[in-house]
Amino acid sequence: MDPIKKKSNDSSPRIGFIGAGRVAKGLAWGMAQGGQRVAAVASRSPRSAQQLAAGIAGCRAADDAQDVVDDCDLIFVTVPDDAIAAVAAGLRWRREVSVIHCSGATELAALAPAARAGAKIGGFHPLQLFADPEVALAGLPGCTISIEAEAPLLQQLELLGQALHCRTIRLPPGCRARYHAAAHYAAGFVITLLNEAVQLWQSFGIEREDTIRALLPLLRGTAASVERSGLAQGLAGTYSRGDLGTLEKHLADLGGVSADALHLYCELALRSIPLGLERGGYDEHRAELMRTLLRRALNS
Ligand SMILES: NC(=O)c1ccc[n+]([C@@H]2O[C@H](COP(=O)([O-])OP(=O)(O)OC[C@H]3O[C@@H](n4cnc5c(N)ncnc54)[C@H](OP(=O)(O)O)[C@@H]3O)[C@@H](O)[C@H]2O)c1
Repeated sequence: MDPIKKKSNDSSPRIGFIGAGRVAKGLAWGMAQGGQRVAAVASRSPRSAQQLAAGIAGCRAADDAQDVVDDCDLIFVTVPDDAIAAVAAGLRWRREVSVIHCSGATELAALAPAARAGAKIGGFHPLQLFADPEVALAGLPGCTISIEAEAPLLQQLELLGQALHCRTIRLPPGCRARYHAAAHYAAGFVITLLNEAVQLWQSFGIEREDTIRALLPLLRGTAASVERSGLAQGLAGTYSRGDLGTLEKHLADLGGVSADALHLYCELALRSIPLGLERGGYDEHRAELMRTLLRRALNS
């Protein structure tokens, strides 16, 4: 990647990163492309810091994390979750700076040492997978960034999110574990569910790659349907229509596979019924018949 040379405003805050991993690279490069002044980066290994800095004209690999704190106004602590508190505790902070972590589940209390020194603290969690920073950078526009901070840092981070062409939402204090757990239902758990399908199809001879290739278009279609029509109207399949006969066939077959497979299916099906009802695919009487069959299977 050629270094980003976008001209930044000299009065804009100097942004620094501590921890030059995947999120730091994706965000720093995105910010620099948006004309923000990404000035310095430090990491555990100088090589990571140099790699990030090499992508941005005017950004330097700092001697160490304290050098970033002393040189910058807005400091992103983008180390692994478990290291955030230790990194924050090991640095000398001052009241003029703002310190932000990018973790979903970590409460802002991890930045308490900075707050005690008078610094403003915040959370800036991009709801995006950063497996490859360049891919993540291309995928950032349109993503949501969840922000937790008090004014005026809150508004400053919202503007930063908008400059990355992202939507922003505000997180109230104390909700991060639940917020982060829920996000798994749109990310890693989708893969877990695909793996469940892979195992079921493998039992009659279809290989993993073929299953993934067959089900990915269905997954994309499902996401597109939700985007177009919302959760209830976007629902398709047995639980959108209330097909009792099909439900019974599913239960009879999965019961013969394993108690685990049946259990997972029933739990998901029970949670699909409210959406089918909301969609108007069937009435409460049919919904209750479906629930009864599913609960009976769960307790069998
Ligand atoms: N990956 C995602 O999809 C994603 C999405 C949203 C939010 N997040 C959050 O973003 C944060 C960073 O995650 P990541 O995926 O970017 O992690 P990562 O790729 O593992 O990068 C972490 C970086 O921090 C450096 N580091 C580790 N300990 C350090 C220390 N004590 N001092 C200074 N640098 C240190 C690492 O060292 P080296 O210098 O050795 O490379 C590495 O470059 C986490 O809070 C995570 O929860 C991640």
